[in-house]
Amino acid sequence: MDDMKKTLAALIAGALTQTFEGADGVPDAEEIAGFLEVPPDADMGDYAFPCFKLSKALRKGPPQIAAALAAAIDAPQVCTAKQLGGYLNFFFNREQFAKNTLEKVLAAGERFGASNLGNGKTVCIDYSSINIAKRFHIGHLSTTMIGLSLKRIYDFLGYQTVGINHLGDWGTQFGKLISAYKRWGDKQEVENGGVEALTRLYVKFHEVAEQEEKATGSHALEDEGRAYFKAIEDGDAEALALFNWFKEITLRDCARVYDLLGVTFDSYAGESFYNDKMDRVLAELRQKNLLTVSDGASIVDLTDDNMPPCLILKKDGATLYATRDIAAALYRADTYHFDKCLYVVAYQQDLHFRQWFKVVEKMGYPWAKDLVHVAFGMISYEGQTLSTRKGYVVYLEELLARAQEKALAIIQEKSPNLPDKETVARQVGIGAVIYADLFNNRIKDIDFWWDRALNFDGETGPYVQYTHARCCSLLRKAGEQGLSETAPDYAELADDHAQELLRLISRFPEAVLDAADKYEPSMVTRAVTEIAQAYNKFYYENRILEAEPAVRQARIQLTKAARDVIRTGLYLIGVEAPERM
Ligand code: ARG
Repeated sequence: MDDMKKTLAALIAGALTQTFEGADGVPDAEEIAGFLEVPPDADMGDYAFPCFKLSKALRKGPPQIAAALAAAIDAPQVCTAKQLGGYLNFFFNREQFAKNTLEKVLAAGERFGASNLGNGKTVCIDYSSINIAKRFHIGHLSTTMIGLSLKRIYDFLGYQTVGINHLGDWGTQFGKLISAYKRWGDKQEVENGGVEALTRLYVKFHEVAEQEEKATGSHALEDEGRAYFKAIEDGDAEALALFNWFKEITLRDCARVYDLLGVTFDSYAGESFYNDKMDRVLAELRQKNLLTVSDGASIVDLTDDNMPPCLILKKDGATLYATRDIAAALYRADTYHFDKCLYVVAYQQDLHFRQWFKVVEKMGYPWAKDLVHVAFGMISYEGQTLSTRKGYVVYLEELLARAQEKALAIIQEKSPNLPDKETVARQVGIGAVIYADLFNNRIKDIDFWWDRALNFDGETGPYVQYTHARCCSLLRKAGEQGLSETAPDYAELADDHAQELLRLISRFPEAVLDAADKYEPSMVTRAVTEIAQAYNKFYYENRILEAEPAVRQARIQLTKAARDVIRTGLYLIGVEAPERM
């Protein structure tokens, strides 16, 4: 909560005791702070308190209450309070507000909004979690960037975080890939072609298997694939070596994208990591009488919870995706003692998570309540469902390459003398892609269009980055001209534009807390965008470097505060902030 809310709540609480002594059921200062609202329009003040919240306890109409409280509040150094209908509206003392806000922000610098709230607490974040032998495409961007952003946000709030890439590295498809490789593969081709070459082999396997089935009704090839998978499971040296090599190739390809995006992980323990941890899950489920056999498969019945059963073992005794997730959760609880374990996964998997979360709850683990599915919307490609087969797909490498090319072309045209153009083009192009991904509420479906993805105008990453670079440039000039000696005159920041900017800056810490609370990085994206927009308005309305020394100094300080907060906000959503553009 921001400090201004706390101060106002204390004033209201004081006025309440003074005016309505002894009334029952009157909220305390903390509750009051929770009721404070931002009025729909800045003419109505900085905060408003809805007095109907008190009508019942005080047995009076809201306007009467508002008038009584307004009369009782006398704190000109902080604000003036006015009755407006049933609301008590607060107008900050603008000079004081500017002074307090800037002193706080400038003392904290890029750490403004950081806290030790999470001290001693651990959050595990399962994100990206790619499947081996598949190429990284736009469908993987949200999990990767929401996950990274949440990790940074929780770190910023003092939590210990563990970023986990729960690799999809288990399943019959890897047996099929071995079979295809042994029949048609070439070592050099795979080394050079990477995941694309593996995908070609996989596609060929399916084509041939289908033809074979049509021509002769035989499933020999499919059986061979299954046999190779069994060989991996049994630890056959050759099969394992090939499987590990496929994994290496995939991770090598993905690492290029992760590097560009600035994404890192603390653990790559994927599905196969839990092979030797399955027995414990099965033994516990049996011992707790949760396992039933149905049609030869082992399941946990969830009829009472209105869900289809959770599949634990197939007929042939193979474990499933859910079994591995349960094993992984037990392992994470034992290893990291998490306070929360987040799964950043598309909402299509909603049932899967609800099912196995319920199973863990039935197993009696109290931390089952700390497992959170952080779901996000579907991505489609120009109105079509993503489909690699039909070509409705955009690979991330291509998207990132095109975004960087476009950024470079713009820089060549608009700032031909910029030093290190390639680096800036990378920061801007990739920033645009990430920002767009984290702009809307995560649950919203995204339809990908090239022109939209490569748009740099309006509410975009480059716009916010540009504002940051503008602040940097102004501060550079001020520094070069040695303009930082005079004491600032905060009364000069009383105009509407400066105040709007200060208000947004002062609310930034709350946006970060809300983002953590709701697992919603877009709240940071929005906050930082509004700050950039407000800064630009302030910048156009006011002379800064040419103003009187004390005025100039106040405006320079505000510019510095805007720069720091924008930089932090961009960092928290995984976007870099170049100093020159
Ligand atoms: N590899 C899975 C997929 O691509 C996502 C894994 C998400 N994480 C998890 N623990 N289930 O669908």
